[in-house]
Amino acid sequence: MPIEHAQISVLDRGFIFGDGVYEVIPVYSRHAFRLQEHLERLQHSLDGVRIPNPYTNNAWISILQELIKRNSPDDQSLYIHITRGIAQRDLAFPDSSVSPTVFLMSCPLTSPSQELLKIGAHAITAIDNRWLRCDIKSISLLPNVLLRQLAADADRTETLLFREDTFLTEGTASNIFMVKNDVLLAPPKDHLMLPGITYDVVLELARSQNIPYQIRRIRKDEVFSADELLMCSSTKEVIPITKLDNQTIGNGFPGPVVNKLRLLYQSYKNETMRSSEC
Ligand code: PDD
Repeated sequence: MPIEHAQISVLDRGFIFGDGVYEVIPVYSRHAFRLQEHLERLQHSLDGVRIPNPYTNNAWISILQELIKRNSPDDQSLYIHITRGIAQRDLAFPDSSVSPTVFLMSCPLTSPSQELLKIGAHAITAIDNRWLRCDIKSISLLPNVLLRQLAADADRTETLLFREDTFLTEGTASNIFMVKNDVLLAPPKDHLMLPGITYDVVLELARSQNIPYQIRRIRKDEVFSADELLMCSSTKEVIPITKLDNQTIGNGFPGPVVNKLRLLYQSYKNETMRSSEC
């Protein structure tokens, strides 16, 4: 239905408590990218907050295919939002007769501008003051909203987050990698960051091209002395970061490893993602 006709109850626990989870799935030439992995991550989020999955994977696949079919353009971003349902306002779970609310929408998927890719994104840093289950894709995004607004206020693209002001976790809506001495470094997928699907793709591409990489905790001082930095997500793909707070990264322009990964990502997208379920 047209989005302006969609309605939910004001008592929906998503509205009242932010009690729900979500997923964002990119679609290229009408092929949903890594659908299985996105559905697995959705299951992980649902399990993490104890909401029963309202559909089987096969049912999800047919619903999402229908959503893609009914929308344009060919490149879309699918949004899945599931809350614990509608009940009187009480923090404890409602009884099991209350079924989850499911909301889906499709938005046009636009790639980052050439200008941004040429110059690189400028970012700021902040203390990661979110909860300890950032592996759950929760709709309770107030901390991310506030942290991202710090970047917006400074006319920057993203905020890089550091736990205890010490080690890198991720961005407010992206995963972060750094390059030092030609080695790609990535923070480990633990409870403190969202296990990004694009993060996996970046590591696969690095492996396929024999770009050496390490997955380990990355200290804040290491990030500031990085030769290159990148941010990635389903909707942003791979974007170089060339300025952090008041410091330039490397020589202030997108560097060779990040540019290589970005171009590999583009070829993978155009040659593989567009033509098959992968
Ligand atoms: N966000 N970390 C956070 C906190 C995110 O919100 C996202 C994605 C990522 C990257 O995950 P993926 O590669 O699977 O997109 C990392 C989506 C795009 C969003 O909230 O719109």
